[in-house]
Amino acid sequence: MKQSGQKVFSRLAPFLMLAAALLCVLALGVFSGGSPGAETSAPSKLPASTAALPSPEGLRIAVASDTHLDPDNRDKSGNVSETVYNPEIVDAMLWDAREQGAEMLLITGDLCNSGRENKHAALVEKLRAAEDAGLAVYVLPGNHDLAPIKQTDFARLYADFGYDEAYSRDAASLSCCVIRDGLMLLMMDTAGYGAGAIELPAAAARDNSEAFFSEETLRWAEEMLQKAEAEGLFVLPAGHYNLLPEISRQPGSGYYLENGDRFAALLRQYGVPLYLSGHMHLRAVYEEDGLTEQLTECLIAYPTGYTVLDLTADALVVTPRRVDVDAWAEQSVQTDPVLLHFADWQEQAMQRYCRTTVEAMAKRHPLTAPETDAAADFFCTVMRAYWDGTLPSRADTLRAMAGYEPFFRCADGYSYGWWLKDLMESASPKLAGYTISFAP
Ligand SMILES: [Fe+2]
Repeated sequence: MKQSGQKVFSRLAPFLMLAAALLCVLALGVFSGGSPGAETSAPSKLPASTAALPSPEGLRIAVASDTHLDPDNRDKSGNVSETVYNPEIVDAMLWDAREQGAEMLLITGDLCNSGRENKHAALVEKLRAAEDAGLAVYVLPGNHDLAPIKQTDFARLYADFGYDEAYSRDAASLSCCVIRDGLMLLMMDTAGYGAGAIELPAAAARDNSEAFFSEETLRWAEEMLQKAEAEGLFVLPAGHYNLLPEISRQPGSGYYLENGDRFAALLRQYGVPLYLSGHMHLRAVYEEDGLTEQLTECLIAYPTGYTVLDLTADALVVTPRRVDVDAWAEQSVQTDPVLLHFADWQEQAMQRYCRTTVEAMAKRHPLTAPETDAAADFFCTVMRAYWDGTLPSRADTLRAMAGYEPFFRCADGYSYGWWLKDLMESASPKLAGYTISFAP
């Protein structure tokens, strides 16, 4: 079963570039009151429960992605988005992961909003504090993390978050391998951050900025997989770019990963069940030929989610989790009322976004006032159901809502029209969490 995004991309090839642009927009706070009139707007993630998870029976690992830390984005005047709260959301996630009993945190790239050293320094300070509090942190680069800093700068800045304790580092990229607790973390550098930032001595020269795995990196990865097989280590591979969505096979899409298929084939060859990625800023689950890919959403956009992995002797349990920003704000004695009531604030922002988007679309396909109310309510309800994982089981109820028909009438010709329809037809039940069993 493949997640909805893949079906959208495969069915609607002419929309590929549109989708790529749209997902980037969506990533950074589409529900935050930005311009509603665009024809290419789309939604994101899940309001999963913030109630505490059951205590882990084995190793608990938190996975966050696309933290896009930007201490320079702090202007709270006007109609602000949650992205201006990015430092607090990162702090809240680091606290929440510890509160949930995670021993480790992986961040799958786009750590900062650009490759400027001051932004990375701000993140390093936060990660160091989290490690001091008992959370082991491992990072890998995304396409936003380099330039102007270069590969050697990145490895220096994040020396304490994987590179210095690595069992092995790939000489041709920022990929590294950490072995601990019977586990091999295969932290892959998928590049995509600009050819000018590539300066490791063994790295091949590039003339473009596409994401890629080089021959050298693939050889190194196979050596690591051979070691894991020989020693019975459980391999957890992660990278920023995606392997299985169809758009990751489309050069020039912004999501293309050269040799991604070959890396996926290697993972299958060595029986690796799960690959972790980010980049698309959406929570999604893809499956193909025995390999599952879990995409983790952009942390700092609605609903501020991350992924929890529980690894036991016979299963890997994948659970989405929403950061409890309200609880973090209370325990850290924040005074900003937005932070103290963050979930409500985000919900109101989403409702405003749904309404303004419907009103904008209705300029082309007019609705009555009651139809506008109903369509906005329908839109919001579908989004909530998508992000809390209940959409597959509630599709019939949602189709019976008064806003169903007016929404799709006014969304005709807009990206939301096909996107929501596709979600309702094919959203994966696994968005609410799932188990990969190793039992015979
Ligand atoms: Fe990103």
